[in-house]
Amino acid sequence: MTNAPIPADKLTAEQAAAELERLAREIAAADVAYHQNDAPEITDAEYDALRVRNAEIEQAFPDLVRADSPTGSVGAPPAEGFAKVRHAVPMLSLAKAYTDQDVVDFIERGRRFFQRDEGLEIAFTAEPKIDGLSASLRYESGVFVQGATRGDGTVGEDITANLKTIADIPHRLKGSGWPEVIEIRGEVYMTYAEFAALKARSAAAGGQDYVNPRNTAAGSLRQKDPSVTASRNLKFFAYAWGYTTADPAPTQYDSVQKFAEWGFRVSPLMVRAKSVDELIAQYKLIEEQRSSLGYDIDGVVYKVDQLDLQRRWGFVTGEPRWAIAHKFPAEQASTVLRQIDIQVGRTGTLAPVGRLDPVTVGGVTVVNVTLHNEDYIAGIDSTGQPIRNGADIRIGDTVVIQRAGDVIPQIVSVVLEKRPADAVPYQFPHTCPVCGSPATREMNEKTGKEDSRRRCTGELICAAQAVEALRHFVSRGAMDIEGMGAENIDLFFNAGLIRTAADIFTLKDKRAEAQRVLAERREEQARQRELATGKARKNVRSAEDRNFEGLDKLFSAIDARREPELDRFIFALGIRHVGDTTAALLARTFGTVEEWIRVGKETAAAEDPLAVFPSIDGIGGTVVGALADFFGNERNDDVLDALLKQVTPKPYVVTVSADSQVAGKTVVFTGTLEKMSRSEAKAMAERLGAKVAGSVSAKTDLVVAGPGAGSKLKQATDLGIEVIDEDQWFARVGQQPG
Ligand code: IVH
Repeated sequence: MTNAPIPADKLTAEQAAAELERLAREIAAADVAYHQNDAPEITDAEYDALRVRNAEIEQAFPDLVRADSPTGSVGAPPAEGFAKVRHAVPMLSLAKAYTDQDVVDFIERGRRFFQRDEGLEIAFTAEPKIDGLSASLRYESGVFVQGATRGDGTVGEDITANLKTIADIPHRLKGSGWPEVIEIRGEVYMTYAEFAALKARSAAAGGQDYVNPRNTAAGSLRQKDPSVTASRNLKFFAYAWGYTTADPAPTQYDSVQKFAEWGFRVSPLMVRAKSVDELIAQYKLIEEQRSSLGYDIDGVVYKVDQLDLQRRWGFVTGEPRWAIAHKFPAEQASTVLRQIDIQVGRTGTLAPVGRLDPVTVGGVTVVNVTLHNEDYIAGIDSTGQPIRNGADIRIGDTVVIQRAGDVIPQIVSVVLEKRPADAVPYQFPHTCPVCGSPATREMNEKTGKEDSRRRCTGELICAAQAVEALRHFVSRGAMDIEGMGAENIDLFFNAGLIRTAADIFTLKDKRAEAQRVLAERREEQARQRELATGKARKNVRSAEDRNFEGLDKLFSAIDARREPELDRFIFALGIRHVGDTTAALLARTFGTVEEWIRVGKETAAAEDPLAVFPSIDGIGGTVVGALADFFGNERNDDVLDALLKQVTPKPYVVTVSADSQVAGKTVVFTGTLEKMSRSEAKAMAERLGAKVAGSVSAKTDLVVAGPGAGSKLKQATDLGIEVIDEDQWFARVGQQPG
């Protein structure tokens, strides 16, 4: 790390000018990375430090303030692709407080400003600072007409269609008394649960990796196709407003309460406070709750409560004077990187994991850290730009670890001063550590760039990929073989009893071996328990008896899945980029496994796969390319042949019978469904020939509403669309629940 910087007022003019130039460059680059590419390269704390330093130098050398000074500018100009929206009132940034003293100073400034007003009591609000993306929602006569991102604060992007898919954003305000025109402002964010689910879905389909909820939320908002945004289940908290024809209420607090009455979600952790002590108390309380909120927050925002005082105190460039964000300290700690292990995933990605000397960061002991990929270790990002000031990561390095709110620890910097003299650059393996096959970096056809991830080319001869593929094959969303969890797969695989999916169905021919393997594990587990508890075993029934029963159950569970639904079967094969939704589309299009294979092989043999493969809404070049690769590989032919000797996928029947009450209709499910999962509901409707939409519009024919249905139900009623409950749905489609 660098030495402590020279205090701003001790710099020579030359040094100051040079540093201002460097800071302007670094801040601009960070803005582009954060706002435009959704891929921050430095931490928020580092970014804030740059801006603070810049402001200090500008204050000491006002003559040297640059034309392109970052002070007063926030964010970066909008990305191409969406229409631009000029905010009627700019979307501001917030001044920051890092210490309690900064908060005391903020309030003192206020007192001084209003000092002539004797006896005036300034009240404040305190609420969480949500780490998402701000959005501005324009309502005219209570109707949501336009929604925009912040952009550079003055001009943002029109993302109305995407914002409309967010359940927390009412299309029509509830209640009454809203101003004729009002821009509601707030934060769009993604919960940890949603983020984890998306990551898992993407990993299952061999899709992209997602770094953290904030960037994922940003990416989700910038989708060209609103149904993708809809599938991300984003959330929204309302906390401010821009242009309005009338104040919602005389105070900040009451205004936000009004938002709640109008149908928005507002932070339940917002309070009104009268003193520094009360503000700090709320800060502490929110900090304590931080880890259990289920979404990222990075501080507490204090705002002057009285709107007339807000107006009197006013603004400095880009920031209100009457508000401040009290940031949580970054949770960082330094430790030594001892080892780099390479893990091989189902799709063959070589994932480097750093093993650390245990260190506590934000109350959690961290021993592993993801090193992402080869480039990341070398100190460059996916566009070839340096990260961490270009420092590579070496075994033996002292590294600074940060646990952002998103729980996944990251390396934020390398302490080069502490690098051992004999540390050498890490050589990323070019062969798979599990099977020895070459590990290569593919060309991404879309971008023309090398994939940042290196992949083992061994496919199913690679034990790591084979075992992951088997785990996926039997998993719930795929073939759903009960009793054959990851643990049993590992066991039978390691014992050499199963290699590919077909072997699962012939396992019963190896009953004696299977029984032995299970018995051995049981013995081992019992031994471990004895060691742990010190209690001797009670031998109720012989282990052998029980295994016998267990195995029979397992074999019948396997047999029960010999006629899987075609979409599950396709998904279970674990073809890259073919997740459950894509698998369902393929099944629906081709109807039978034979037809799907025939077209797949034809596509693989074609010079231009896209010319051969039928155009299917929702399936693009990446998926077609992945299918061509899959069917172009002879080894997969063998695997499929063997498997189809064991299982017969059911033809995908679209029962668009004349009497299907919902065929051809557009259906929206909303609220909590109690008798079926969302995906079951969708699949059932689609099987019956209906189209399932994520939001209610004039095109909607039918809304199925469960308890807790909110804005969609309201809209449906407003539009006069038929609304039924779950029982009525089952009655209508002539099926029984469950
Ligand atoms: S108020 C006039 N309240 O922080 C004040 N902002 O650094 C406008 N943010 O762009 C903002 N939670 O994206 C406000 N409770 C909250 C917030 C919040 C998160 C974000 C927002 C804003 C940024 C300012």
